[in-house]
Amino acid sequence: MITNHLLLPSLYHLQRIGIVRKIDICALNTPPLKALKENQEFHEAFPEQVFTPHPSLGEAPDKEFPELYKEVIAAMAPGNVVVVAMPDPLHYAVAMDALQHDQHVLCVKPLVLRYEQAVEIEKLAAEKGRFVGVEYHKRFDLRSLVARRGYALGQFGAFVMGEAKLIEPYYYRFSNFQNWFTCERTDPFTYIGCHYVDLVYFITGLKPIEVSVYGVKGRFPNGNEAYLRRPGCARWPPRTANALGRKRSAIGRSERCLANPR
Ligand SMILES: NC(=O)c1ccc[n+]([C@@H]2O[C@H](COP(=O)([O-])OP(=O)(O)OC[C@H]3O[C@@H](n4cnc5c(N)ncnc54)[C@H](O)[C@@H]3O)[C@@H](O)[C@H]2O)c1
Repeated sequence: MITNHLLLPSLYHLQRIGIVRKIDICALNTPPLKALKENQEFHEAFPEQVFTPHPSLGEAPDKEFPELYKEVIAAMAPGNVVVVAMPDPLHYAVAMDALQHDQHVLCVKPLVLRYEQAVEIEKLAAEKGRFVGVEYHKRFDLRSLVARRGYALGQFGAFVMGEAKLIEPYYYRFSNFQNWFTCERTDPFTYIGCHYVDLVYFITGLKPIEVSVYGVKGRFPNGNEAYLRRPGCARWPPRTANALGRKRSAIGRSERCLANPR
């Protein structure tokens, strides 16, 4: 849960230094809120910091509150911040609701699942004069920062083509992913590939002009159908590459690969 690993520590820090006052956290039910409250690391690192859970922890653990976030947002004074850290398919509705209530929005990646939804959010944010930020924290990984600096110093030459790959361990498919990572909701390129498209922009400053994706369906252990493999191709503005193969000055031999990850 990204709120536990990343967002709440950041918000607690901002609360500790006086930038953030009250923190309300809304979840579908009480178990994740209870886990946050009982996380011993928070008690050690942020002994003074607190949040208000919605629903309250007295509610039964199996009772769900899918619409409660609307009440929590409606109760906020205008000009505060709604941090959207729910499953991808919910981002659009929550971000729009927050903007309609005159709140700024910080949303984890991917902002939304459709381009038109992003345009709609941009338009409403401009009308309301509110900020919408999308959190791509991989930009702040040391390796990304080193690559960005190296690129700026000309150490890599001009970006022409690259390759990124992520293959998760087999046991992942037994996790909660199998309940929501289904064909009609999302896919691996949207979920994780967006980081690499974003990182190319972050490192090189180049914006993609086209992204195409191909999906191979499979089934999770519980029978849900999902895109278990999702190769994608992003194109950037054409650049000139004056060599077939590596640069004359580059180290490296011929490289080839035919892989079949199972
Ligand atoms: N940048 C990254 O590296 C990174 C890493 C992990 C996750 N994420 C993103 O963070 C988001 C959340 O991922 P996660 O792994 O924390 O997911 P998760 O399944 O743990 O869900 C997060 C929370 O959403 C709550 N929720 C679900 N439906 C709700 C509703 N109707 N109302 C209120 N709360 C509701 C759940 O109770 C849960 O506590 C996703 O969009 C994911 O793409 C980003």
